[in-house]
Amino acid sequence: MEIIIQRTPEEMSKTAARVVASVINAKPNAVIGLATGSTPLGLYKELVRMHREEGLDFSQVTTFNLDEYVGLTQQHPQSYHYFMHENLFKHINIAKQNIYIPSGTTDNYHAFCFWYEQRIKECGGIDLQILGIGSDGHIAFNEPTSSLGSRTRIKTLAKQTIDDNARFFDSPDQVPIYAITMGVGTILEARKVLLLANGSKKAAAVAATIEGPVTSMITASALQLHPDVMMVIDQEAAADLKMRDYYDWIQANMVNAP
Ligand code: PGA
Repeated sequence: MEIIIQRTPEEMSKTAARVVASVINAKPNAVIGLATGSTPLGLYKELVRMHREEGLDFSQVTTFNLDEYVGLTQQHPQSYHYFMHENLFKHINIAKQNIYIPSGTTDNYHAFCFWYEQRIKECGGIDLQILGIGSDGHIAFNEPTSSLGSRTRIKTLAKQTIDDNARFFDSPDQVPIYAITMGVGTILEARKVLLLANGSKKAAAVAATIEGPVTSMITASALQLHPDVMMVIDQEAAADLKMRDYYDWIQANMVNAP
């Protein structure tokens, strides 16, 4: 894992945007896995700026989103379809037919999940997967005790996640109980993973992910098994790391590494 600690969430977002842009510039038809939530908002804002001011070209890019709430229509303001459209897609030149987001309203979830996994494979697999992390250590909606080999499926949200996400809804009882989510196994097949985290609420989950054991209690810890993970986190999210000095030392000496 490469751990990059930035002073502010703004720096975190800009660093992450540079990573995404370099993947797209190297491979214009890259397949990018996208995340929702508060964390990647600054990253998407920066990608929109790069598209407008620097010509970052999404015309051949394909995207697969990690998850969607079950029961919310695409037009629902808290659906991830709506989030992605408002915060990224409507501002860039991505082709509509290249956007994939799990359906929250299909009448056959089992068949849909199977098709979603197939579609990722048919598109050549995910080149770069962007991730946030839940305060319970989840990636996508893979809640504690999710199988580390899991694939796209329906997941029952943990109480902690419902409480965390209640801020986006009028009341906690409006937060959907189920989500359709890529599995940990699906995420581990991405060629490169870029996880972002900011704020003190993520510090414990970040420390457990990087320095704790691999365990389904913190599904992000499965990323320790992946050969190409970059974690870009701010100071507050880094606060519980025991090896913090070492990560800074690595970054400082990287330019001279053989
Ligand atoms: P957040 O959510 O970015 O809104 O904190 C992250 C997550 O639950 O994965």
